Amino acid sequence: MAESILIVNGATRINGNTDILVGKIIDGAKNTGLNPNLVELKNKNISNCIGCYTCLKKARCFFQDDMTEIRNFINESEVLIFASPLYWCGVTGLMKTFLDRLFFYYHPRNKDLISGEKAIIVTPMNQKNVDFESEVLVEFYKRLLDCLGVKIVEMFFFSDIMEKGAVLKKLEYLKQAYDIGTNLKDL
Ligand SMILES: Cc1cc2nc3c(=O)[nH]c(=O)nc-3n(C[C@H](O)[C@H](O)[C@H](O)COP(=O)(O)O)c2cc1C
Repeated sequence: MAESILIVNGATRINGNTDILVGKIIDGAKNTGLNPNLVELKNKNISNCIGCYTCLKKARCFFQDDMTEIRNFINESEVLIFASPLYWCGVTGLMKTFLDRLFFYYHPRNKDLISGEKAIIVTPMNQKNVDFESEVLVEFYKRLLDCLGVKIVEMFFFSDIMEKGAVLKKLEYLKQAYDIGTNLKDL
């Protein structure tokens, strides 16, 4: 049973579809006694990776910013949930900045801190053609997380929602998100 869960919310829009779905996931998790940690990237100060390779050379990051604390959550987690709306067939800039900073874990001394963890991907999006629209994103997450030894257990796409809060009209999505939360106990 997974007990330590980190949800990373890369949405830019406050109270948007991603926020609502993440809230449902947390409700579902709490209903089974789990208490996921939530990181809202929109409220964090995370510098862009500047490619200094301090992480590869010295196994530490050049920056002292909110990533320092977030790494503690990552290190103690069994399951990582990455939630971001689809932006141009990819993730938001906030999420990309966060993911770039995971390069820290590419150093052999740091890799064990994340390797072996499981990942769930949550992606609200506007278009209906999920397979076509998500192709690049799927490949991106697969390659990135594979490099870090993180196993993607499931990817969820919530299509056909554009306006802020549109997901509230999709009761099946709200239930699905809640179920993602309740099913975490089985991972
Ligand atoms: C800059 C930008 C790029 C987007 N690119 C895509 C896209 O490539 N495919 C898609 O299906 N939806 C795209 N969307 C729509 C969002 O994924 C959709 O509105 C989503 O519900 C937003 O989630 P939020 O309410 O959490 O912000 C884009 C939206 C924005 C603002």
